[in-house]
Amino acid sequence: MKILVATDKPFAPVAIKQIREVVEKAGHTLALLEKYKTPQELHAAVADVDAMIVRSDIVDAAVLAAAPKLKIVVRAGAGFDNLDLNACTASNIVAMNTPGQNSNAVAELAFGMMVYAARGAFDGKSGSELMGKTLGLHAFGNVGRCMARIASGFGMKSYAFDPYVDNKAIAEAGVTPVDTIEELYSKSQYVSLHIPANEKTMGSIGDKLLSLMPQGAVLVNTARKEVINEAELVALMEKRTDLKYLSDIAPDNAELFAQKFAGRFFFTPKKMGAQTEEANINAGVAAARQIASFFATGDETFRVNKPK
Ligand code: 3PG
Repeated sequence: MKILVATDKPFAPVAIKQIREVVEKAGHTLALLEKYKTPQELHAAVADVDAMIVRSDIVDAAVLAAAPKLKIVVRAGAGFDNLDLNACTASNIVAMNTPGQNSNAVAELAFGMMVYAARGAFDGKSGSELMGKTLGLHAFGNVGRCMARIASGFGMKSYAFDPYVDNKAIAEAGVTPVDTIEELYSKSQYVSLHIPANEKTMGSIGDKLLSLMPQGAVLVNTARKEVINEAELVALMEKRTDLKYLSDIAPDNAELFAQKFAGRFFFTPKKMGAQTEEANINAGVAAARQIASFFATGDETFRVNKPK
């Protein structure tokens, strides 16, 4: 079988080496398409492939139509909002993700941004510390758990809201569960978002929740920019000059932030959460193994789309 790694944002070379080893050991062939500039390049590359590994690369109906032999696509990472799941199902293609494999990298980036903001972008003036501050984890999945572990080292007090996770499991991780989303935002000087981007969450973080946060609040977004209601965030930051926004990837109206909110925001130039050698190896190798196992035994663990 021919397995294509198609990544606009390439994996570290050491990860590619290990992905290749897994693929070839299983008797398959690896092809590589990195830093492609147009969808047409991707369409040409998928013409004869049986499987694909992608990151945030868009896999829509047009990509699938260009890949008549494709049987499985694995998103090496957690969020699969870049895959058209209905189109995969319609074409009888299995779609998977690799949950948990890059979560520590994402959590470390969140804390890196938090320290950077707390210390005023290292501008030489007095900043503040994370110790003793409250951290609200909006969702308690794999990244939320890594956040809680690191927060405890910093001496922060963590709260979490996640209707899909048992409060007992949250408490066992040393985090205080809260029963309402409003309570989470009211209690937290830092709120860190770990929700997926889907029809329920798109644009869901806006004035209603953010205005509940205490003075000096910081919103940390390593989830997706799409979950933010940007117009409401901008309006609130105009009103509340204490509020800061840190995000792994710039919002659509980044220029507005630069004009209006100097010193109160930080955006990574490119999505950086999972950009570590370790996360690339973990997620890339997991994806390769999942594909090898699917071809060997039909294993569909981590499937995220419905069967036809
Ligand atoms: C994820 O959903 O796993 C992260 O956002 C990582 O995305 P990336 O692979 O594009 O860096």
